[in-house]
Amino acid sequence: MSFTITPVKEHIGAIVRIDDKAHLLDDDLIAACRAALETAGVLVFPQLNLTDKEQLAFTDKFGERVNFSKTVPGGKDADEADVYKITLDKKVNTEPDYVLGTFFWHMDGVTIDQPLPKATFLSARKLSATGGQTEFASTIAAYEGLSEARKAEIADLKVIHRMEASMRPIHHTEIPDERLNRYRSMAVEMVHPLVWTQPDGRKSLVLGTHADEVIGMPLATGRSLLARLSEWAAQPAYSYSHEWQEGDFVIWNNCGVMHRVVPYEDDSGRSMHRTTIMGTERLGRPLKELQAA
Ligand SMILES: [Fe+2]
Repeated sequence: MSFTITPVKEHIGAIVRIDDKAHLLDDDLIAACRAALETAGVLVFPQLNLTDKEQLAFTDKFGERVNFSKTVPGGKDADEADVYKITLDKKVNTEPDYVLGTFFWHMDGVTIDQPLPKATFLSARKLSATGGQTEFASTIAAYEGLSEARKAEIADLKVIHRMEASMRPIHHTEIPDERLNRYRSMAVEMVHPLVWTQPDGRKSLVLGTHADEVIGMPLATGRSLLARLSEWAAQPAYSYSHEWQEGDFVIWNNCGVMHRVVPYEDDSGRSMHRTTIMGTERLGRPLKELQAA
């Protein structure tokens, strides 16, 4: 069997072409994908048309699977355990907040007290007529591209991440109590370093709309810094927008890439099947734990 892995851009993205899907679990392919995930951040397998079982088998070859979305619609009612269905289809998703939040830059699983998910795997089952492209930005390339002065300035900063912060853009001035209580029941206020030195020594930025407050800075100053860093990371050289075709399978390094989706209509039936693997490092700590120490 043969496969090719072709870079899309210098800093992000690669296309993986396999001559026969039957070889998807071969060790040499997995090893090559694992390496490419580190260098490219995002791997696209065009029109692979995986079943849930095939996707789970591939996911399991990469690491320990985790489903951190069990408490939201689509998280536990899938045909296969650990496959989360991302959709705004009202028949499946009675709480659209969690999915509407994905219209904004984020990393998966940041407000859960467990090692940050290492990689996310997504199969396109049904697409919307308009919108729905997934955009990725390399937070590793973004860090490396900063000036030395900026790197020094942010080196030791810590940031409080809150799920409710990632939900603010989808509400008017105030989040209704019922939703606020729900968000707080689903997530933990986590304190993460802004600059993360990963196991291989590379550094990345931990960013997204869930990044709410830089500890030790006035609120507006900290939020401005976070917004500027996100804009920096999203510049064309460090980002890639995936125009999905049905059956595409995309995986990304959740520890070195943030992502968002271009808005699509909620009655489009767009449906994506997600699996996730656990990382190895418990990056941050719950705010409560730090306050008690
Ligand atoms: Fe996501």
